[in-house]
Amino acid sequence: MSGFALDWLDLRAPADRAARSMALARRLAAWTGGAPLAAVDLGAGAGATVQALAPLAPRLRWLLIDADAGLLAEARRRTGARTARADLSAPDEVERLLAGARVVAASAFFDLCSEAWIARFVRALPRDAAVLAALTYDGRERWSPADPAEPAALAAFHAHQRRDKGLGPALGPDAAPTLARMLRAAGWSVSAAPSPWRLGAGDAALIAALADGAAAAVGETGALTAPTLERWRLARRAARQVEIGHVDILALPPG
Ligand SMILES: C[S@@+](CC[C@H](N)C(=O)[O-])C[C@H]1O[C@@H](n2cnc3c(N)ncnc32)[C@H](O)[C@@H]1O
Repeated sequence: MSGFALDWLDLRAPADRAARSMALARRLAAWTGGAPLAAVDLGAGAGATVQALAPLAPRLRWLLIDADAGLLAEARRRTGARTARADLSAPDEVERLLAGARVVAASAFFDLCSEAWIARFVRALPRDAAVLAALTYDGRERWSPADPAEPAALAAFHAHQRRDKGLGPALGPDAAPTLARMLRAAGWSVSAAPSPWRLGAGDAALIAALADGAAAAVGETGALTAPTLERWRLARRAARQVEIGHVDILALPPG
C-alpha cells in the first residue's frame, strides 16, 4: 500500500548506512544511558533504523510502525522487533502510538509529511521522549557532469515531492527545518547534522534507479519536453559523482 518496494529500500540501504550521522546516533545512545526504554520507529520499512541503532543502544525495546504489512514482516525477520501496522495519517494514530515512548525515531520519513502532520506529531510527543529523525531529504543535489536541464528538472522534482504522499501536502526539502523549528518551539534541544549520500563508481545501480525514479516524477509534472527529459535521464544515469543532501536531527527533551 505504501509504494516503497523492498528492492528500493535495500538498494539505498548501504548509502543510508554510510550517510547517517553517527555522532547524533551516539548522543542519542548516551542519552538513553543503556536503559531498556520504549522506542518507536515511524515509517520503519524493513527495519533499517533499528539495524543502525542496535549496535549503539542494544537494549531499546522497539515497536516498528509502518502502513505496509509486507515490509513489516521483513522487518520482524531482520530485527526480531515488535511491529504494528498503522496508517499514520489516520485520526489519533500517531497520538496512540507515541504514548509512553521515550525514543522516537524515523529514517527517510519526515520529507513525506505535511506541516500540519509534523505539528500534530510534535503535539503528540511525550515530554520525556527524544527524537532521532535521520535521512530527511534536504533538496540539495549535485550530479556531475550535469545536463543543462538539471536546474529546471530539479525544481520540477521538488514540486513533485511536495505532492500529497498520504500524510498531507508533503514538505519535501522543507521538512527538516520545519521539524527542527517546531521541536525547538516546544522546548526540545535540537541538533542537526548533514547526512548526504555521496555516490560514485561503486554505486551505478543506485544512480541508475535514482535517475529513472526522478525522471518518472519529473515526467508527471510536464515541466520538460519528452526529448529533454530523456536526455536529462540518460545524463544522470551516466553521472560519475552524485551527492544527494539529507539532514539528521536529534532532539532531546525539555528538562
Ligand atoms: C522511504 S521509506 C523509509 C523506510 C525505512 N525507515 C528506511 O529507512 O529504510 C518510507 C516508509 O514510510 C512508510 N509510510 C509512508 N506513509 C505512511 C503512512 N501514512 N503510515 C505509515 N507508514 C507510512 C512507507 O511504507 C515506507 O516504509
